[in-house]
Amino acid sequence: MTDLSKITCIEDLRVLAKRRVPRMFYDYADSGSYTESTYRANEDDFKRIKLRQRVAVDMTGRSTRTTLIGQDVSMPVAIAPTGLTGMQHADGEILAARAALKFGIPFTLSTMSICSLEDVAEHTGRQPFWFQLYVMRDRDFIERLIDRAKAAGVSALQLTLDLQILGQRHKDIKNGLSTPPKPTLRNLLNLATKPHWCMGMLGTPRRTFGNIVGHAKGVGDLSSLSSWTAEQFDPQLNWGDVEWIKKRWGGKLILKGIMDAEDARLAADSGADALIVSNHGGRQLDGAPSSISALPGIVEAAGRDIEVWMDGGVRSGQDVLKARALGARGTLIGRAFLYGLGAAGEAGVTRALQIIHKELDVSMAFCGRTRIDDVGSDILLPGSF
Ligand SMILES: Cc1cc2nc3c(=O)[nH]c(=O)nc-3n(C[C@H](O)[C@H](O)[C@H](O)COP(=O)(O)O)c2cc1C
Repeated sequence: MTDLSKITCIEDLRVLAKRRVPRMFYDYADSGSYTESTYRANEDDFKRIKLRQRVAVDMTGRSTRTTLIGQDVSMPVAIAPTGLTGMQHADGEILAARAALKFGIPFTLSTMSICSLEDVAEHTGRQPFWFQLYVMRDRDFIERLIDRAKAAGVSALQLTLDLQILGQRHKDIKNGLSTPPKPTLRNLLNLATKPHWCMGMLGTPRRTFGNIVGHAKGVGDLSSLSSWTAEQFDPQLNWGDVEWIKKRWGGKLILKGIMDAEDARLAADSGADALIVSNHGGRQLDGAPSSISALPGIVEAAGRDIEVWMDGGVRSGQDVLKARALGARGTLIGRAFLYGLGAAGEAGVTRALQIIHKELDVSMAFCGRTRIDDVGSDILLPGSF
């Protein structure tokens, strides 16, 4: 068991994850596309925004509770969908889902997860969670996936719109990240330094894309999976498909990957319940602005009929507070929870959530607010955002 009492910030979890997770999978999480300028800007631009310190305000009776698309949450944070999460730690999606649900925040399972929809439902006591959908060319597969999500008790669908084609991450190519991974001498030597991770993987049957293998036509093993995924992301995805998916799903719909005011208006017109200002954590268009800098313009353009959330670069409760002040009703965290998972499994994700919650609560109080629902842009220093 890892002693987490000395882990005091998300950066501590990142350092520990780097030690524990094989380089190929750690780098997969901790990198962005091309020059990584957007990846870095996501974090850096949060630092430029300054909070107004207020004093002699009654700080008792604080609450970070709020709602996201009508769902009660203990803080305005949800777990972002991340592919291959079960490679950061054995059974990763199940462990992260358990930590999130116990903490009272939503967990989003990716289409490209290792643990399947059914597996996560079964191992989390069939509590509702969220599912992220990539639109594939094989529409039969998508229809069945939507039906499987309903059967698994999924309570909201996140439709990702910013991955019709793939941005390139140099490290993934250099590390031989592929399905199956390349067993180079460098990779094997690196694995030998990660005994905890290896033991976990040896002890679980979950080592491939659980939502796909055995469900998509012609995909029965790792090598057929590789060619299937390479050609399946649909480059023709358009707003007509959004309408089709909305109808087919029939439940709460969240559109992920909006970075432009015009697209925000289209998202609002589509009748979706929420949109997520997101550049995919700096993994797609390198050179796009940071999510936090794009947020105010999108809040203005989106109007009142759709909730606006954001993700990208959230590494602390202060970041959650700043995003909320700039109009994001909710924030999603990707790497912040992945570092926790890689560092210490379920306990590591719980620790990440505790850290962010405490930072949010304390910082909100320093800004003279006791309820997250009362936080607005007046807690920010004018000129800093
Ligand atoms: C390792 C990794 C895998 C990801 N996989 C997916 C995915 O399968 N589907 C998706 O919609 N977004 C995916 N994303 C993007 C996240 O949902 C989210 O937008 C991003 O991580 C937010 O930035 P942050 O990591 O700085 O918090 C992935 C991100 C990372 C880091």
